[in-house]
Amino acid sequence: MNANLNADLLIVGITQLATPRGAGAKFGAQMREIVVLEKAAIAISGDRISWVGSAAEWPGTASRTIDLGGCAVIPGLVDPHTHAVWAGDRLGDFDARTSGVSYEQILASGGGIWSTIRATTSASDDALVSLAEQRVWSLVRSGATVVEIKSGYGFTVANELRMLEVIRRLALRLPIRIVPTLLIHIPPNDTREREAYVEQVRSELIPEVVRRGLAQAVDIFIEKEAWNTTEAESVLICALEHGLRVKVHAEQFHSVGGVELALRLGALSVDHLEACTARQYAVFRNAQTIATVLPGVSLHLGIPKAPGRQLIDAGAAVAVGTDLNPGSSPLFAISAALGLAVRLNGLTAAEALVAGTANAAQALGMSDAARVEAGMPADFAVLQSSDWRDLIYCMGMNPVRETWCKGQRIVPEQSRRERDDG
Ligand code: NIG
Ligand code: FE
Repeated sequence: MNANLNADLLIVGITQLATPRGAGAKFGAQMREIVVLEKAAIAISGDRISWVGSAAEWPGTASRTIDLGGCAVIPGLVDPHTHAVWAGDRLGDFDARTSGVSYEQILASGGGIWSTIRATTSASDDALVSLAEQRVWSLVRSGATVVEIKSGYGFTVANELRMLEVIRRLALRLPIRIVPTLLIHIPPNDTREREAYVEQVRSELIPEVVRRGLAQAVDIFIEKEAWNTTEAESVLICALEHGLRVKVHAEQFHSVGGVELALRLGALSVDHLEACTARQYAVFRNAQTIATVLPGVSLHLGIPKAPGRQLIDAGAAVAVGTDLNPGSSPLFAISAALGLAVRLNGLTAAEALVAGTANAAQALGMSDAARVEAGMPADFAVLQSSDWRDLIYCMGMNPVRETWCKGQRIVPEQSRRERDDG
């Protein structure tokens, strides 16, 4: 059936190809096993994978062959949760926190997220694009070929729209796929102003985001210091009515019912979960909603770890993200987030690979990403090591040697000669 295949490029010298399974894979519960194909080859035609198998069984011809010389290959990783567009820094917060002031105290006194909103509002669009571009390239060097980016440091309708426009400009400058999300981050202090803000989000912001095609989903921060579940429900229902998907930041510091709300509304994902209770694990059983854990936050803020192991054992499908942001998780590598999820959240290495690929893609509502198999975009990462588990095991070095996206090597960047030869 595969005879006479003709590929643009054949990649050989792959000691192990480690990928989640595709067709027939059951979503809604953690896939515990991945496929590890030894001595593999990948054929690429245009920007897609046309064949994957044992190198000895390649049945076709290829215009060009690249020998990786004995490296493991994994799918391009998906970072399903970042706040990569911001200006300023939170080094003062870090000093305060390391002297004993909590993240929530800093926020309540007008610092924290508020200070990033002020700095982001004052920065020019060009500055925001260029700062974010460097951060996303760092994620790409760690193997990411899909990155979600949230707004949320705009606060006003005009500034949230501006952040989403910046994300759109950024996406045009990058070779990878960027998935934009509107984040309704923190409320005004006054109760009456809160009501007015929700109304503005519903009547102005969400309709305008849809009109301009600026986001695929709406996220809201449900927390004692942020929005309550009634306010969140009102915003999320409006998003659904406008044809957008929904997701939430929930159960980060307190268990306030964000999980139940999100599952009831069929959210793509519930993210954070550090304060998720045992009663809430069961809500995820066989749900399509992904439980996204963000180990960088537990490490950086010193808060409890999200119960990844317990969630999986209770029947949840878990994804992992960096939550790249200046306040709670200055983590610039998705590979490192996966390694932390094993050490802090109790995932196995195989579960972490699924969490950073298939489940992360599902948390973004994407079906055409994060698997190395025929028909998928040719997005994959070549590791430094011949064993894929070094992705998880190594700390403090970049386990990724090359990142490939849509059939092109984007890290390290190709020289002009390589491009001409290709
Ligand atoms: O995912 N929890 C709320 N929002 C972000 C942090 C944003 C910030 O501190 O700047 C988070 O942790
Ligand atoms: Fe976040």
